[in-house]
Parts: sequence; structure tokens; C-alpha cells
Amino acid sequence: MASVRIVMRHGEKQDVHFLRDLVRHTGPGRAGVSIEEDPPPLSRYVAGWGRVGDSSVIALDDETHVTVGAAWYRSFTADEPGFAFIDEETPELTVGVVPSRRGQGVGPQLVAAIVERARSQGIPALSLSSLQDAALIELFESCGFHIVGGKGSAVTMKIDLL
Ligand SMILES: CC(C)(COP(=O)(O)OP(=O)(O)OC[C@H]1O[C@@H](n2cnc3c(N)ncnc32)[C@H](O)[C@@H]1OP(=O)(O)O)[C@@H](O)C(=O)NCCC(=O)NCCS
Repeated sequence: MASVRIVMRHGEKQDVHFLRDLVRHTGPGRAGVSIEEDPPPLSRYVAGWGRVGDSSVIALDDETHVTVGAAWYRSFTADEPGFAFIDEETPELTVGVVPSRRGQGVGPQLVAAIVERARSQGIPALSLSSLQDAALIELFESCGFHIVGGKGSAVTMKIDLL
């Protein structure tokens, strides 16, 4: 497997454009779907990015400093939930790696970094929505998540941090 040396940095408000690109490629059957078209809207994961509780980590190629992936979490309300909504105290994690850099171990490093960030901020748990794909589920299980439910072709997973 080719590997890519990456460095991590904290995400900033202006990274929203990169997050917006990545979110198009997350979840069941959503690759390439317009960000405004898919209910619940994927724009929910990035709209007004930078509100209280939003947090992100950006992965950069160590040599070129090109952005190769990001992981972020935000809280949702029962009225406007995300795909993996559990409750209003459990932020939802999204992780994405640009297609050309997948399969090189960047995703697990991003998940580990954002989970550590959540833990250091005293967040009790994170959820995420993954495709029903054995390799993906195994990836998230290796990062400490477990399955708590499912919707269609997706599973909801959770990590307890306290
Ligand atoms: C999920 C994701 C973040 C994983 O990141 P990654 O850096 O590719 O993770 P890994 O390198 O550990 O690869 C994970 C698995 O992806 C698969 N994979 C390998 N090469 C791949 C490639 N070129 N393209 C896609 N998937 C590939 C493999 O099954 C691999 O498992 P293995 O390591 O046992 O071979 C990334 O695939 C992605 O951005 N997917 C789209 C967004 C998404 O589904 N996010 C999760 C829901 S929020």
C-alpha cells in the first residue's frame, strides 16, 4: 500500500470550502450529489461553519502541504438532525479523504486526532454514519466506535469518551 506522510493542523473557519467539497463524497449513494439536493441536506454539516461547538482537523501532505482530508464534528438538534443523530449532546463526526489519497491510512489518523480533540474538550460521546461496508465499519471499530443502529444502507456508530 502506498503511504502518504501527513501533518495535521486545527481547522479554521475558512476551511469550510474544503469541508464542503469533502461532504459531497460522504455516505450512502451521495457521492457527486449536489450538496443542496439530498435530504437531510448535506449542507447541514457545513452551513454557517464556525458556530459554537464546531471543531475540525485538517490533514495536509507533509511535502506539498496540499490538503488531503479532514475530520470534523458538530452538534445537531432534534428538529434538524444529522444522519447519525443520537441526541443533542452527541456531536456527529464526519471524515473524508480526497479520492486520490484513500487507502493510505489518512482516514484513521484523522479519526484518532478528532476523537482526541473531542475527549480533551470533555465531550461525552461522538456518533457517525457509515456505509454498510465491512472495511469501513472495521476501520471505525478500530478507532473505538461501535454500532448502535442503522438506517437503510447506513449504520450509526458511536464512541463513548467519558
Ligand atoms: C472513509 C475514509 C475517510 C477512509 O479513509 P482512508 O484514508 O481511505 O482509510 P484507509 O486508508 O484506512 O482505508 C480504509 C479502507 O478503504 C478501502 N480502500 C483502500 N483503497 C481505497 C481507495 N483507493 N479508495 C477507496 N477506498 C479504498 C480499503 O478497504 C481500506 O481498508 P484496508 O486498509 O483494510 O485495505 C475514506 O474512504 C473516505 O473519505 N470515504 C468517503 C467519505 C466517507 O464515507 N466517510 C465516512 C462517513 S462520515
